Amino acid sequence: MVLYYKILTARASVNIAVIKYWGKSDERLKLPLNDSLSGTLDSADLCATTSIAVSDTYQSDRLWLNGFEQDMSDGSTPKMLLDQIRSIAKVNHDNHKVHIVSHNNFPTAAGLASSAAGYACLAFVLGHLYGIEDPTELSKLARRGSGSACRSLFGGFVHWQKGHDHDSSKAVQIADRNHWPQMRAIICVINDETKDVSSSVGMLRTSTTSSFVEHRCKVVVPDRVDRITSAILERDFERFAQITMQDSNQFHAICLDSYPPLLYLNDTSREIIKLCSVINSLFGKNVLAYTFDAGPNACIYLLEDFVDQFISILQDFFPASNQGSSLEVKGRPFGKPDEFVSKNIADSLALNGVRRMAGSIRYLINTALGEGPQLIEQHIEDANLQP
Ligand code: DP6
Repeated sequence: MVLYYKILTARASVNIAVIKYWGKSDERLKLPLNDSLSGTLDSADLCATTSIAVSDTYQSDRLWLNGFEQDMSDGSTPKMLLDQIRSIAKVNHDNHKVHIVSHNNFPTAAGLASSAAGYACLAFVLGHLYGIEDPTELSKLARRGSGSACRSLFGGFVHWQKGHDHDSSKAVQIADRNHWPQMRAIICVINDETKDVSSSVGMLRTSTTSSFVEHRCKVVVPDRVDRITSAILERDFERFAQITMQDSNQFHAICLDSYPPLLYLNDTSREIIKLCSVINSLFGKNVLAYTFDAGPNACIYLLEDFVDQFISILQDFFPASNQGSSLEVKGRPFGKPDEFVSKNIADSLALNGVRRMAGSIRYLINTALGEGPQLIEQHIEDANLQP
């Protein structure tokens, strides 16, 4: 007989950093070596959805991610997060185990910050289940799951203050999604495969072998965080884009300086960097801001009025196949570009040696900034969530 059963579901979005987190000062607490800053994207296009059921009929705490059961033994990261939240909430869980089912609507571990959305969502639903609802507190808990997850507890632009202990290392919202409504992001999904070296392994390698990291953390990042914060508050895309691209470049420079080197970008990523740089110089100002995480996929921040034009350029330079079939665009609808402008840009790209690379981008996601996690009514349908 079922005496107790409760289910809660939430959705949380991916965030894409413009000032990158890379390196930890404390592995266990996931305290970062430097502050970082990101945009939280629209959950309509890139999100994790997590349902948690509690019942006295469950024998143990269990977790399934995208249909596959995950390790929830003592010492695993999700179990640690669960135990931590229970202990803060002073919950006696002996007779109330949880079953957790989580899905992403985008590729996991492809350098698309899937763990950020996943752990933000997990911390958020667990917190709501056990009565911890303050987003700042939840950001600290999500951080224990995956560092960058702390930033997904807020929408819009978010600053992760590195702090020096569990309490001081937390995310703070700089501006909500409505502050800069024209801001858009286009994700170029280049490779759905799982990446070679995980972020945690990569970070450790960089912080122990790269001689550039100290300068980055002590000198470069604090200055960039200040400057990009004011660029965001003043809606100055030119400055925002320059700092974003420079920080992505520097992050990949310290990856290359690691030993053995971490090579997250591929030929397609580099062609996208070239394409964006040529377009920016053609316009005489930054209209595109590329950034790459620990994988080859590009995220390009841009303003609304350039979206249609840019999608058509990507479709021209990265057709789905040699037969010229069109590159798929997921996410928001988009309109027709100005053909004359497209032709001029294409000519200039060709003149500057940007190659057409058929089949190298799998699809685009046309998206925008979004909100922090939300509880939703619609629970995931899964036999494992039944009492
Ligand atoms: C390149 O947050 O995935 O995306 O804390 O070890 O789980 P762990 O790492 P994770 O690292 C993300 C690194 C990054 C940059 C960023 O998002 O700031």
